[in-house]
Amino acid sequence: MAAGLAHEIRNPLNSLFINSQLIEEMAAELPDEIAPQKEELLSLALANMKVARRLNETLSGFLRFARPSAMELDLLDLNRIVAETLCFLDVDFARRGIIPVVRHHPSELPLLADEKQLKQAILNLLLNAEEALDKEEKLIRVATGVRRGRPYVRIQDNGRGIPADERRHIFQVFFTTRRGGSGLGLPIVRRIIRGHGGSISIRSREGIGTTVTLTLLFESQFRAMFPGKQRLALPPLAGERGGLGTAAQEASR
Ligand SMILES: Nc1ncnc2c1ncn2[C@@H]1O[C@H](COP(=O)(O)OP(=O)(O)O)[C@@H](O)[C@H]1O
Ligand SMILES: [Mg+2]
Repeated sequence: MAAGLAHEIRNPLNSLFINSQLIEEMAAELPDEIAPQKEELLSLALANMKVARRLNETLSGFLRFARPSAMELDLLDLNRIVAETLCFLDVDFARRGIIPVVRHHPSELPLLADEKQLKQAILNLLLNAEEALDKEEKLIRVATGVRRGRPYVRIQDNGRGIPADERRHIFQVFFTTRRGGSGLGLPIVRRIIRGHGGSISIRSREGIGTTVTLTLLFESQFRAMFPGKQRLALPPLAGERGGLGTAAQEASR
């Protein structure tokens, strides 16, 4: 229903944008003598365009959230997923003087998961960590491992932390404390992780930092938890195809 509403808003919003654009063009052509408020008109029209554009972005984000794409499962190594996601941010981190400290579990962590979605979830967390950094020394630690028989990835920052009264809102759609934030990052992460049978936990100390842990399922655990759920989508068991290496290479082709 909410997605329907978002679509309903989109068309009138488009008219609003186009009309503002027309007003701006018409105002620009008015001779200064007959329109002393020309500058004011222009800046009002531009302000309207900006608001319309921003609303449109919010709607797009919401629609992506409300209508997630179907899961495409592949046999993946969590270590590789984390390493590749960190690569996206290399330049960004370097520019801000952040050197992430990364510790990978010594062996592969085979998952049955949607590569794009998982990378999106980890990226959202890394961006949140980056945005929270407020001290001279900017620390982001990333670790993968196994805890209580489950694979996890943990992202830790020494940023501003999350005040107690904000904690219960951070998974609410559109909750943000950042200028220009969408408030969709964490809700998307949680939806993706739950879709994979996993969980997310957050520990934070105000002024000191935040640790977010995504706990997932190993391939075998995933198959046991979702028996036959997407039988056709599931690749055969690792052993049947000669192990993760082969399957992962096939998936990346
Ligand atoms: N690592 C973090 N450190 C401090 N605050 C955080 C962190 N991650 C999330 N938050 C808080 O949770 C809010 C919601 O995060 P998110 O859903 O990703 O939306 P956005 O990043 O667009 O604000 C953020 O605005 C911020 O207040
Ligand atoms: Mg975010």
